[in-house]
Amino acid sequence: MSQSYDVKDLSLAPAGLNRLHWAEREMPVLRLIRERFGKERPLEGMRLSACLHVTTETANLMRTLQAGGANCVLCASNPLSTQDDVAAALVTEYGIPVYAIKGEDNESYYRHIAAAIDHRPHITMDDGADVVSTLHSTRREALADVIGGTEETTTGVIRLRALQQEGQLAYPIVAVNDANTKHFFDNRYGTGQSTIDGIIRATNTLLAGKTVVVAGYGWCSRGIAMRAEGMGANVIITEIAPLRALEAVMDGYRVMPMLEAAAVGDIFVTSTGNMNVIDMPHIERMKDGAMLANSGHFNVELNLDALVEHAVEVRQPRASVQQYVLPDGREINVLGEGRLINLAAAEGHPSAVMDMSFANQALCAEFMVQNHESLENAVYGVPKEIDDQIAALKLHAMGIEIDTLTPEQEHYLNSWSIGT
Ligand code: ADE
Repeated sequence: MSQSYDVKDLSLAPAGLNRLHWAEREMPVLRLIRERFGKERPLEGMRLSACLHVTTETANLMRTLQAGGANCVLCASNPLSTQDDVAAALVTEYGIPVYAIKGEDNESYYRHIAAAIDHRPHITMDDGADVVSTLHSTRREALADVIGGTEETTTGVIRLRALQQEGQLAYPIVAVNDANTKHFFDNRYGTGQSTIDGIIRATNTLLAGKTVVVAGYGWCSRGIAMRAEGMGANVIITEIAPLRALEAVMDGYRVMPMLEAAAVGDIFVTSTGNMNVIDMPHIERMKDGAMLANSGHFNVELNLDALVEHAVEVRQPRASVQQYVLPDGREINVLGEGRLINLAAAEGHPSAVMDMSFANQALCAEFMVQNHESLENAVYGVPKEIDDQIAALKLHAMGIEIDTLTPEQEHYLNSWSIGT
């Protein structure tokens, strides 16, 4: 029998409770959904296993799902992103089993995923597709109970589409990441701010006047580039996709191959979803004191194995910094062990942006309960009505009004005959 939770220290719960209430103030859309869920109980009788970053924002999502009638458990979606006080509060204050300890090793990480699967979920809620991938490989017996799932992040959606492509996906999953109210905001403004926050908390470095190299120009990277530039950094973008590279050029950034950027960068941030984006040939060219951080989902973007192999000494000058000394004496600083720096060294995206991401999660769980019987085993986008509803609610909560079409304008837009 597995233990019914595994958190660092239950006595941290009061601090976690205070902090999750603080976050709640910035999550008005999720609060509205929680109030409706409390009355309508759309998730009644559903066992739900969530594998998400265990943060104050996730705690408010779990409360919402529980208010909707779901019987929830939560495990970490990254070994370094857990807020131990929040994990404790979810157990003691809300009776939600949590399996997550900040800094857990790989063995514990997968033991915690196994515990979430032992819950025999009807619904899975992933951030990075680790529960889905475990269910489809070593825990196939548990697939029988699952009616559907949701996926939070770009990397997870890519994995799920690969599973679908191979004809292996065993149940329908909504790609929450694909909602406009998710990736336009969470990926861009959330990752932009929280990545800079993580780098600063880890190093206390000044960005003004530094050269910051951002690998990739997807939604997350453009947020990072925009915020680094706003702090006075000179930003260089590296890309493999011509269209994105062109956008970066026309947005005013220098664009060049990583091998060239390596020689001039002070701070490097990867957010590509690919592996070994910064490898030994790049590191060989870097300046003494260069800082390397990753903001992509998995810790594969920096080739740390190669760095460990080449280093003659490894030091820990600050809590979230590991300093690798190369044979020629240069020091290369890796932040947050190459794991997503915004959660490893800071608190992840601010609540106001997670409000929309997690409103999507809650409404997509409800959508799955209502529609799973008519869905195929495929990856679905978020229904447009959900996306539009969240945008409208968020604007309303921010006290912002917008115009509506006049009947004349509506007619004009729907007409093909009115020209010059
Ligand atoms: N992903 C990025 N930031 C997050 C946060 N604050 N909570 C949960 N998941 C996140």
